[in-house]
Amino acid sequence: MLNLKIVNLNGIDYIFNKLTGIFFHCDRVTKEEICNNLIEDDLKEILKENDFYSIDMLEMYPIVSQYCIWSDKKLIYYDLDMKINSYDINLSEFVFLNKSDGMTKIKDIINDSSIDYNEIVPFINFLLDINTQVIKLLNKKFEFKTLGSIFIYNNPKPFIHNQNNIVENIDYYKELQAEQVHNQFESTETTISYMFRRKNDILNNKSYGEKLIYNLGKKRGKPNDILEVGAGLGDVAVSILKYYNRQKLNYTIYDLSGSLLDYQREKINKVATSLHNISYYCINAEKININNKFDLIISNEVIGDFTSMKYKIFKNTDEYKQLSKELFNNYSDEDYVNTGAISFLKKIYNALKEDGQAFISEYSELDGKPQISNMMFDHKEISIDFILLKSISECFGFEVKLLPLMSFLDIDDCKILSQQSFYLLNYYNKIHKQMYSQHYIKNYTNGKIFNIKYTNISFYMKFFYVLLLKKQKIKYITN
Ligand SMILES: C[S@@+](CC[C@H](N)C(=O)[O-])C[C@H]1O[C@@H](n2cnc3c(N)ncnc32)[C@H](O)[C@@H]1O
Repeated sequence: MLNLKIVNLNGIDYIFNKLTGIFFHCDRVTKEEICNNLIEDDLKEILKENDFYSIDMLEMYPIVSQYCIWSDKKLIYYDLDMKINSYDINLSEFVFLNKSDGMTKIKDIINDSSIDYNEIVPFINFLLDINTQVIKLLNKKFEFKTLGSIFIYNNPKPFIHNQNNIVENIDYYKELQAEQVHNQFESTETTISYMFRRKNDILNNKSYGEKLIYNLGKKRGKPNDILEVGAGLGDVAVSILKYYNRQKLNYTIYDLSGSLLDYQREKINKVATSLHNISYYCINAEKININNKFDLIISNEVIGDFTSMKYKIFKNTDEYKQLSKELFNNYSDEDYVNTGAISFLKKIYNALKEDGQAFISEYSELDGKPQISNMMFDHKEISIDFILLKSISECFGFEVKLLPLMSFLDIDDCKILSQQSFYLLNYYNKIHKQMYSQHYIKNYTNGKIFNIKYTNISFYMKFFYVLLLKKQKIKYITN
């Protein structure tokens, strides 16, 4: 009897062979044809083409999916619907999983470990099952090059937003409810500063806020007046206030979200001392005229939420007329311009003391025009054209440095826990959401949990840049 099933992955039909664990494309035949019309011989033909028909399971090389981890007691895996499941395992099953490296045949695993074949076969079948997919069987030794992706999963389609002429998120942040705010950062929109909110070995045992203030202050000394725009859950503010816990400091926060401001206030109150003067304003930072003067203005992953509009609309505005046309030479009508970010630059120029500086980080493809992110399903975050913002900042009179966030934070490329392994480990033994170095995880798991996967931190952070602005002494811009 053929062990075949029709599987729909991401809108495409596949034939799945339970014995081999291999999926086959099903372009030539529809699901109905397979179910109603195809005789077994046709299916054999399809399978022969793929070189996997009629296998002797003992001759196959099992390889474990990256979507699972295990210890000597438990196997945790994603199923086809990307739900996490757990399964208790015995010693033979544990050994089998450990040896399933894609380089060793099942018969050799069994011989070398004195596992009982009859005992392990139900386990192999369970692992191969369409709903489990913990292992795949190969007919030759594993070679990453030829195998490509190890497992096919039903990845959700990216969310495609409408490309309206004007994109803004004012209502989204204003309406954020108190019960939503934690989840907003934990799962919907996890920012880099959130991932580094605690002291982290990747940042030399500093938190993001500490590293930021340490690196900015290296040559300049302590700022007296700091403005943070869009403070999220308040972690950067907390780190900075702790860093200056024995010194006088005025710390001002502008945020659009009342719920986030409440959350920040509660958290910040716990660390602020009598030397600290903290002010909170529930306002749209794009629109306000800032009267106070600051030594330092910080904005982490905020300007991507500001208004952007298509060039064809922007070129009719007064704001555009005040700027040099050459700045937009490579823009065409349907391109988005980060207009909110541009007016923000002008505002912070006026809000900085002479010699004051601003730190603005955000997501950018650098050489690409602003694009609405398809990762954020519930609001329209847009990438930043930092090259344009750099030129405009120079025109405004700033001394400007544009650099990758990784360089600013002095991070060398290193391995960090992959997202899928994070979720599995978290299910296994609740861990905080944050950036974990390979070194940290190795110590944490003490070699007792297997198949933990890592990614390069550069892969995660390569799209984040920092604009460092310093107000030079003479020039002055009015609104
Ligand atoms: C993506 S979160 C980043 C939060 C924090 N800086 C971080 O790195 O985790 C954006 C923050 O900016 C605020 N925000 C968005 N648009 C704003 C606006 N026009 N004026 C003031 N705050 C804004 C949001 O309420 C939120 O606190």
